[in-house]
Amino acid sequence: MTVHIGAKPEDIAETVLMPGDPYRAKWAAETFLKDAKCVNEVRGMLGFTGTWNGNRVTIQGSGMGMPSLSIYANELMKDYNAQTLIRIGSCGAMQEDVKVRDVIIAMTATSLSTPSRGIFREINFAPCADYSLLEAAVTASRKRDVGTHVGGIYSSDVFYDERPDLTEQMMRHGILGVEMEAAELYNLAARHKRRALAVLTVSDHLITHEALPSDQREKTFGDMVEIALEAAFS
Ligand code: HPA
Repeated sequence: MTVHIGAKPEDIAETVLMPGDPYRAKWAAETFLKDAKCVNEVRGMLGFTGTWNGNRVTIQGSGMGMPSLSIYANELMKDYNAQTLIRIGSCGAMQEDVKVRDVIIAMTATSLSTPSRGIFREINFAPCADYSLLEAAVTASRKRDVGTHVGGIYSSDVFYDERPDLTEQMMRHGILGVEMEAAELYNLAARHKRRALAVLTVSDHLITHEALPSDQREKTFGDMVEIALEAAFS
């Protein structure tokens, strides 16, 4: 048990999928895993462990934003020895050719700051995905009937952004989408020599202002979970 995860050491698998929303963790575990059992309920940040194609997997909520994700990812890596961590979540599209429902596989994650800022100091570290996971996720995604984009994303500290100039610079430099967690997951994976990736579904569009209707979310998020699982065990 750690401060924020009540699971026994053996209850957490080496492969962990991390949605921001604990209820999405529950849904994904019940939908895609066999024999899923709840392994964490501390603060309602639900975690489940089961098997997928015979492989053990944990699906643990991370909460929203990098400080929250940092707590869970640190404990999973350092105390539970998680080796492969894949964020599954939603993002806002920042390019015209990226459509709502498409999948973005994040090669890099740009940020203004992360919880690791304090140790990096003057270093502008470039948080990037594990290449083997990235390649496998791209292959898995391209097999499906889903628009797939691979490139840089922006991990923001705010959902309600009041810096339109910043969004404009991100768009100008080809950033595909914005979310709030991946950069710190990549930083921690680099520090602890683990594999990390973020597979994201576009839920809203910063240019067209289109948003994914709630009745279509499940199917689209399901693609993302399967892509992450295939990538983890390929
Ligand atoms: N901003 C930040 N995070 C997000 C967004 C957004 O527009 N959409 C989904 N996650």
